[in-house]
Amino acid sequence: MSMQSREVRLASRPRGVPTAENFSFATVEVPEPGPGEVMVRNLWMSVDPYMRGRMNEGKSYVPPFQIGKPLEGTAVGRVIASQDASLPVGTHVLSFLGWRETFVAPAMRLQVVDVRQAPPVAYLGVLGITGLTAWVGLFKIAGLKAGETVFVSAGAGAVGSAACQLARLHGCRVVASASSAEKVAYLRDELKVDYGFSYLDEEPLEHLKKAAPDGLDVYFDNTGGPQLEAALYALRDFGRVALCGAIANYNTPGPGPRNLTLAIGKRLRLEGFIVSDHLKELPVFLAEAVPALQAGKLTSRETVVEGLDAAPPALMDLLHTGAGNIGKMVVKLGE
Ligand SMILES: NC(=O)c1ccc[n+]([C@@H]2O[C@H](COP(=O)([O-])OP(=O)(O)OC[C@H]3O[C@@H](n4cnc5c(N)ncnc54)[C@H](OP(=O)(O)O)[C@@H]3O)[C@@H](O)[C@H]2O)c1
Repeated sequence: MSMQSREVRLASRPRGVPTAENFSFATVEVPEPGPGEVMVRNLWMSVDPYMRGRMNEGKSYVPPFQIGKPLEGTAVGRVIASQDASLPVGTHVLSFLGWRETFVAPAMRLQVVDVRQAPPVAYLGVLGITGLTAWVGLFKIAGLKAGETVFVSAGAGAVGSAACQLARLHGCRVVASASSAEKVAYLRDELKVDYGFSYLDEEPLEHLKKAAPDGLDVYFDNTGGPQLEAALYALRDFGRVALCGAIANYNTPGPGPRNLTLAIGKRLRLEGFIVSDHLKELPVFLAEAVPALQAGKLTSRETVVEGLDAAPPALMDLLHTGAGNIGKMVVKLGE
């Protein structure tokens, strides 16, 4: 049973903000699975800001996407044909094999997800790399402890919303920022942060002074740019910063914070991290996150766009101030 599948490819490398011309669509023939292989129909695809970096040429911690080849990305799908006893038809699997509808791959390259524990899409969000990123940044990198005050930028996004919730579950005081009034309402009303603010309505530093008059213990940095600068002012002596992302600089590299010298006098510790170095922590994280999700103490929220054609616009949207997503941006391809 061979079949056809559509896929999203990199057509050209963007200069600055990506446009529709940087992406193309192709239909390819998917062969029947051979011994040890399975055919998977993707149901959900993840849209991630780091994919912007892979559209550039040049060495990074992950290789760049190749022009004319499918964009690689995380997806959850269902096995629809199998030549491997470990993955029978109907099994839900996580893959890192690209923005495409259907594919054939060796079973050993796929990871089973337990859909009795949580809906499949949760494994792209709060129970997946997204949730693990928040957990590693907060507790392994920044060493956040109960009773401390943490500031999370891009707090209404995927990693940010997981970080806000996990920090609260650990007994911390949470300050979080986002662009719009709707997102700030989500921070306050649903994530129950102690102080949610828009980084656009007033200088972030003015908010941080009100939110944490005695200073911040930890800053979970998703944005870089002006909010990193504000946080450096607002951190207490011996404060810690988990440098998770710098989305303010992804399309157009900007200058670093102008006040980095404060890190010396305040004896701050700023540490970047890449979640893939910490995958061995996934079982530890899931042992905490799955019961919390099942008990309703952790919520999984997604912004869903439908169909493969919607994937490039969703990525382009994510990279802008005031992006359309609350929680994890995902593409729905099937039930
Ligand atoms: N280190 C790692 O291993 C790792 C792993 C995963 C993700 N990350 C990083 O974590 C960050 C969040 O990723 P995510 O997947 O959770 O995405 P996300 O937060 O769900 O989406 C990105 C958000 O960034 C905000 N944004 C866009 N441009 C901005 C700008 N110029 N200034 C301030 N905010 C801006 C938008 O929210 P507003 O509407 O509020 O502006 C948007 O919703 C990214 O920087 C990503 O690269 C790092």
